[in-house]
Amino acid sequence: MTAVAIPGLEKAPTTHSGVLSWVREVAELTTPDRVVWVDGSDEEAERINAELVEAGTFVPLKAKPNSYWAASDPSDVARVEERTFICSERESDAGPTNNWMDPERMKATMTELYRGCMRGRTMYVIPFCMGPLGADDPKLGIEITDFAYVVASMRVMTRMGRAALDKFIAPDGTEREFVPALHSVGKPLEPGEKDVPWPCNDTKYISHFPESRTIWSYGSGYGGNSLLGKKCYSLRIASVMARDEGWLAEHMLILKLISPENKAYYVAAAFPSACGKTNLAMLQPTIPGWRAETLGDDIAWMRFGSDGRLYAVNPEFGFFGVAPGTDDHTNPNAMKTIEKGNTVFTNVALTDDGDVWWEGMSSRPEHLTSWKGEDWTPADGEAGEPAAHPNSRYCTPMSQCPILAPEWDDPQGVPISAILFGGRRATTVPLVNEARDWQHGVFMGATMSSEKTAAAAGKVGEVRRDPMAMLPFLGYHVGDYFQHWLEIGKHADNAQLPKIFYVNWFRRGDDRRFLWPGFSENSRVLKWIIERIEGKASAQETPVGFVPKAEDLDLDGLEEPLADIQAALDVDPEEWRQEIPLIEEWFDKIGRDKVPSALLDELEAMKQRLG
Ligand code: GDP
Ligand code: PGA
Ligand code: MN
Repeated sequence: MTAVAIPGLEKAPTTHSGVLSWVREVAELTTPDRVVWVDGSDEEAERINAELVEAGTFVPLKAKPNSYWAASDPSDVARVEERTFICSERESDAGPTNNWMDPERMKATMTELYRGCMRGRTMYVIPFCMGPLGADDPKLGIEITDFAYVVASMRVMTRMGRAALDKFIAPDGTEREFVPALHSVGKPLEPGEKDVPWPCNDTKYISHFPESRTIWSYGSGYGGNSLLGKKCYSLRIASVMARDEGWLAEHMLILKLISPENKAYYVAAAFPSACGKTNLAMLQPTIPGWRAETLGDDIAWMRFGSDGRLYAVNPEFGFFGVAPGTDDHTNPNAMKTIEKGNTVFTNVALTDDGDVWWEGMSSRPEHLTSWKGEDWTPADGEAGEPAAHPNSRYCTPMSQCPILAPEWDDPQGVPISAILFGGRRATTVPLVNEARDWQHGVFMGATMSSEKTAAAAGKVGEVRRDPMAMLPFLGYHVGDYFQHWLEIGKHADNAQLPKIFYVNWFRRGDDRRFLWPGFSENSRVLKWIIERIEGKASAQETPVGFVPKAEDLDLDGLEEPLADIQAALDVDPEEWRQEIPLIEEWFDKIGRDKVPSALLDELEAMKQRLG
């Protein structure tokens, strides 16, 4: 094939042969009008934002500096799990929880979709690094995309551009490995055709090739489907790297808690999408003397340090948070972060004076432009039409967070003292429950469940098993993943391993109200957790783990009725007995031969204890 002249293609600011050949190959397949090598500079960002405004994708906000409102196509608002594929060479390696397609067949199918798909568009080449640039072994990637919105968002969410590209050649001159991540909205433009503000395609594929550490995404602009450094790389591909290399890539926030004695503790917590990670990560404790700082709100990479402790690093650089429900009361630190500007808002409502609004903010304007771009008044809200989409998002730089921990960019990471698993359960699961040991904690994580939220397309509210909050993010067989967790536990002695807890902020009373106030008040639960680690707090042994009595928690100044707190903490053996067939069903789905025997033992032991 003779080389095609595509403007910009030759301007590569690197000599990395793998990058050069892959970018050329993609350009020749997708035939964009031009290629832009993204350098991450301020001038470039200004130019791209201006182009997005010109295209109608971005509306500049008057009320916040350098911030923009974007509305997606109404069909492209969340991750699409049924269109997400793990294309491992063997189907059995993807396991029963992932969609699988033979990698050759997927590549053939998608190659035809990609052929000419960038016609009339600009192809952006984004070098990025997940995790601190100063790491000995920086985790690199190149995202190719034809959507400028992705460039603007990747700038917030990752360390990218020139600084990342510099890492592609190691100090000794060798070319480092990188994850090639290809994204297209799948909407070529014919000559003279006018573009739409949010191009996308009804045909969508979010495909991962675990053996070759490659990502191919097509048809969607939504963050989880298009910002490929996030869920696709840092969870699905990284979980496979972690399995092979003996570490953990997890769907976890990282929080630093500082006690009144000025002792720092680091906590990692895995909750499914839209179940409270970002809120807990920016916690504003209500109990006197305690402080919290943020290190990450979505993803933690954890590996053992030379001292035998598990150290966590956040691979991301920004927050991609759920907007609805965020306000000065629930998450003041998120509000302060976005107030500083440099934020992209997607599918929230727009106020008449050029600010953003969403459900859960205290003031409610009399008129808004809804996420659908329509006039909206409170009457529409009463009729059940939200102004902001329930999965609307803010994309904002971590560096603007007022409670950012000073060590957030340290490649060493931070030593984790406690791991929390949590879901959204109206019944059964108590507010907090401490595992008996690592193996029991892995069982808790492996069998945790949650009601489905708007973060993924599908029926909201349905209870499903979501192991370690990784159900949609695992790059390999879930049974092997459980085995990997058990192996990690054998690596260190029990005293150095984080203690594991299972929390539920979402238990409800008979009248459907939440029994626990949640948000900043979750600091009371964290205080108990730290005191358990220090051997200071009491708990009751129940058939499912160690659960505090109401008097074991610091409830000073809490207005909620004691009966509600007690109900939130209740372990009802009858409710738990009803949980057993669901766990059995889950293990059957995985395949009894693939569930580690240690977890089958844990289930038997729990059954025995429940009688
Ligand atoms: P993430 O997607 O896991 O990061 O979840 P977020 O922190 O963005 O929260 C998702 C939704 O859960 C938002 O609507 C929050 O207001 C709500 N939420 C978060 N924490 C709590 C809590 O402690 N209690 C209750 N009732 N709701 C919460
Ligand atoms: P999150 O997920 O809700 O866990 O932040 C982001 C997403 O839906 O892609
Ligand atoms: Mn979040």
